[in-house]
Amino acid sequence: MDDRINTLQETLEEITLTLRARKDRGKPADYIPPLAHVSPDHFGIAVALTDNRTFMAGEADLPFSIQSISKVFTLTLALGMHGDALWRRVGREPSGDAFNSIVLLEQEKGIPRNPFINPGALVVADALLARARAPRETIGEILRFLRFIADDDTISADPAVARAEKATGFRNAALANYLHSWGNLRNDPDHVLGVYFHHCAVTMSCLQLARAGLYLANGGRNPATGRSVVSPERARRINALMMTCGHYDGSGDFAYRVGLPGKSGVGGGILAVVPGVASIAVWSPGLNANGNSHLGAEALEMLSHRMGWSVF
Ligand code: DON
Repeated sequence: MDDRINTLQETLEEITLTLRARKDRGKPADYIPPLAHVSPDHFGIAVALTDNRTFMAGEADLPFSIQSISKVFTLTLALGMHGDALWRRVGREPSGDAFNSIVLLEQEKGIPRNPFINPGALVVADALLARARAPRETIGEILRFLRFIADDDTISADPAVARAEKATGFRNAALANYLHSWGNLRNDPDHVLGVYFHHCAVTMSCLQLARAGLYLANGGRNPATGRSVVSPERARRINALMMTCGHYDGSGDFAYRVGLPGKSGVGGGILAVVPGVASIAVWSPGLNANGNSHLGAEALEMLSHRMGWSVF
């Protein structure tokens, strides 16, 4: 690793100080009370290196709602279960639309553009349900997987967030029913939605998230536990999807500014991967117009620039 690693802690502290002072912080998601009540003033960042050192600044220990970041992990699990057959049911192209858009689904006959937009994540949730007798078992399997990759048994889903997602999730219900009408859901849409709402409701801190993402930075193997999660080829491909689709209609801008595979969530978190080097998690609840963390993206832009971490 190059010399800039020696000043990584100072760099993280400087970024945190700079961004904490910002007035323009974006607006936290307000479609459910548990997210609307989160203060936009929070800021945390954690970096887990493939040599097992971790660095953090700000509120990197405070759990937040990881929301759509969970889609990276459900995709990983579903690929493990179904392999490339999954790609017959979901594409690998950016959609150029909002995460919850239904527009392309009619034109493309019920095959979602990618696994990170909501219809794609619902197909992935349906694929995960394949082996289970009840949604509860699939939710348990997702949580066990998260605990395994983060090497942390305390990770769980917030039931209040899951309930609120269900209470307000009319658009997701429309997407699930529409997918079912095209024959691209094999399970009861309500069961699929139950799994989806629960994985969106997982809470993790930046530190837990950075550790969970390390397999993507380290050729598919968690360097802390020595355990293999996916093959090196699959890790590369998941990173490619994060780069092209991880920020929805803001993916091009994120790639341009940060130059790293990344996945955002409406809780204000972003997971970013520096292949071979590090997994980074940042949290700032205020969102931009595309529903991605406003200051989170800026923090990653500053960090990748200072460290020379762009993949390009
Ligand atoms: O589907 C939803 O509305 C949310 N639970 C998850 C959305 C999300 O995080 C989108 N990403 N930025």
